[in-house]
Amino acid sequence: MSEHVLIERRGAVQVIRLNRPEKKNAITRAMYAAMAEALKRGDEDADVRCHVILGQKGAFSAGNDLADFLAVATGGEGGQEVYDFLLALAGAAKPLVSGVDGVAVGIGTTIHMHCDLTFATPTTVFSTPFVDLGLVPEAGSSLLAPAIMGQQRAFALLALGEGLPAADACAAGLVHRVVGAEALEEAVFAAAEALVAKPPEALKIARDLLRGPRDDVIARIREEAEHFRARLKSDEARAAFMAFMSRKAS
Ligand code: COA
Repeated sequence: MSEHVLIERRGAVQVIRLNRPEKKNAITRAMYAAMAEALKRGDEDADVRCHVILGQKGAFSAGNDLADFLAVATGGEGGQEVYDFLLALAGAAKPLVSGVDGVAVGIGTTIHMHCDLTFATPTTVFSTPFVDLGLVPEAGSSLLAPAIMGQQRAFALLALGEGLPAADACAAGLVHRVVGAEALEEAVFAAAEALVAKPPEALKIARDLLRGPRDDVIARIREEAEHFRARLKSDEARAAFMAFMSRKAS
């Protein structure tokens, strides 16, 4: 497990909290592995009835750790942990509720496309600069985003790389409710508690019907991952990662 992901139980709610505030919760391979493990264990544990995913004040997540990306771009290993996490996320058997404050970049945005309820604060901005980094959309977002928000808004987010403020994300259907920063976790836990108080069998059937079969989403995650792996080794991506890593030196 990683010290950068805190796993906690609050009754029947499993809380997965990103805990790397000094790096704006950029997600490393170890963090993906810890989150995948928590989702799988929680799904197998009859005492867990809902997963909650949270970040830190001011930073849900700055996305994939760019040093990890650069390592792959320059010939290193990586990718399996992300893939395992995405499969656990897309296939999660129990409701997923997330809370977002501030920075939500890359996977820090696309993760919520898998959540059943997402709460965000007014200062949150969702963004996915995949193309600017020489990359392509991931996590099934090329399929999920157009379904959630329509083609134009999905294109502006995922291809143009335009930031999507919380209020617009709420209007677009990516966010359930915008709440003040001080009320964020209260709102998230109130929703999670309301879900665990429901008759579990009926809730499971209702959720499965609403989400539909996962096969298409998982096939898209796989298709995106093939492109993503190739793009990580492209000159465009390598140059973008190196520019970020060396920006403080210049
Ligand atoms: N990977 C690795 N480190 C990251 C990171 C990432 N994705 N995002 C931020 N960090 C690190 C910074 O390097 C910095 O570390 P340092 O203090 O050791 O130099 C620290 O987190 C704080 O980030 P900083 O850039 O100073 O904060 P900011 O508030 O000025 O900007 C962001 C926040 C998120 C806008 C900016 O950090 C950013 O653009 N990060 C990259 C996001 C990205 O492209 N993610 C990949 C998506 S696929």
